[in-house]
Amino acid sequence: MAAGAIGAGRLLDGGEEARAELLPWEGPRQAGIVTPRTSYGMVAAFDVVTDDLEELFQDLTARIAEISQGHPDRMDPLSNAALPPSDTGELGFEDRDDGRLTITIALGASLFDDRFGLEAQRPETLSRMPSFPGDNLDARRCHGDILVLAQSDHAMITHHAVRDIMRRTKGRLEGRWAQTCFQRFAEDNPSTRRREGVADARGLLGFPDGSQNIGVDRHELIFAGAEAQPWARGGSYLAVRLIRLKLERWDRLSRTAQEDSIGRKKVSGAPLEGSREEEVPKLDSRTPVDAHIRMANPRRPGDERHRFLRRPFVYANGFDEYGLLDSGSVFLAFCRDLERQFGTTKRRTHGQDLDEYMVAFGGGYFFCPPGVEGDGDYLARRLVERA
Ligand code: HEM
Repeated sequence: MAAGAIGAGRLLDGGEEARAELLPWEGPRQAGIVTPRTSYGMVAAFDVVTDDLEELFQDLTARIAEISQGHPDRMDPLSNAALPPSDTGELGFEDRDDGRLTITIALGASLFDDRFGLEAQRPETLSRMPSFPGDNLDARRCHGDILVLAQSDHAMITHHAVRDIMRRTKGRLEGRWAQTCFQRFAEDNPSTRRREGVADARGLLGFPDGSQNIGVDRHELIFAGAEAQPWARGGSYLAVRLIRLKLERWDRLSRTAQEDSIGRKKVSGAPLEGSREEEVPKLDSRTPVDAHIRMANPRRPGDERHRFLRRPFVYANGFDEYGLLDSGSVFLAFCRDLERQFGTTKRRTHGQDLDEYMVAFGGGYFFCPPGVEGDGDYLARRLVERA
């Protein structure tokens, strides 16, 4: 089926439509960035091992349209014994449109090296993710030419979506690293009808996570505009950080020490000088100088331009070799300018108390190309199309 052939309406920007079971995939922006959040995710990074990027992105787009809109070819004729159906219920039993599946494609800095002749097209602030102080990056869990971010209401659906993409791109995309992840929202399903200043989820540290996130309507902070190359306008940079949390150490802290580390009250999520979560932090003397929220957003004049959209999940990978929980955050930051927003924030949080309780071991910097609009269009078309 040709890309764009499945009518799916426009991309949702959150709000009441969060109750929709099927999230539109088509529009000026890819789904999965400002569409409602879901409880499960999987990030999977791949290296490209084909020269034909045009065909690769066409096929990726067509398949994303099919499976995210409930049209997998499950009903392939069973007369062909050599052709197992690609979905026998993993994407939904009777209804294959109940999972709010989105699949977002992002391009790594390495795609713009000398292999494909795309050097001059590299989005301006897309670089290879550096190792920041305190990081312990594992080369096997970093970077990649292409990132697939699958999100849905069920772990089986996200997993199957990535598996399906791999099956369709075999011999063209080679798996590099992947991480499954989840999130617990205040409302189970549908999740995340966000109130200003109120988090929709609680993170592994036990605090509401997302209280002072920017709204999904802040497109001027999320999507590339006129400053970007024409092909990239409407796209979004994505910083992925796989961050292990030292939960056993954290759990030994007093409640006050935990609250000082974050700069908010644990149960209510209120700023330390306030009583309600939705109050904008004043950052008075009750908030320690090394508290996470003060260092991440000191709220000085001009700091608004450094904010970005956080869309994190948590992960749990069982125990490590010492019997300690290997759990943490799949931190996802969408922004218009990787350096000005994520980079600045990351650098200025260096030395915060929270650094004692976390260590990044993987991830990468990526750029999500704009969405797909109309028949014949496909993801990254304006980047890879040959004249
Ligand atoms: C696993 C690691 C992390 C945890 C557990 C964590 C947790 C939190 C919590 C509990 C809050 C307060 C509630 C809220 O406004 O959402 C917060 C705020 C925030 N975090 Fe993190 N965070 C982590 C990593 C990061 C990273 C890597 C960055 C960016 C480099 C970051 C940037 C921010 C920002 C910008 C805010 C909002 C500050 C404000 O405007 O008041 N966080 N985080």
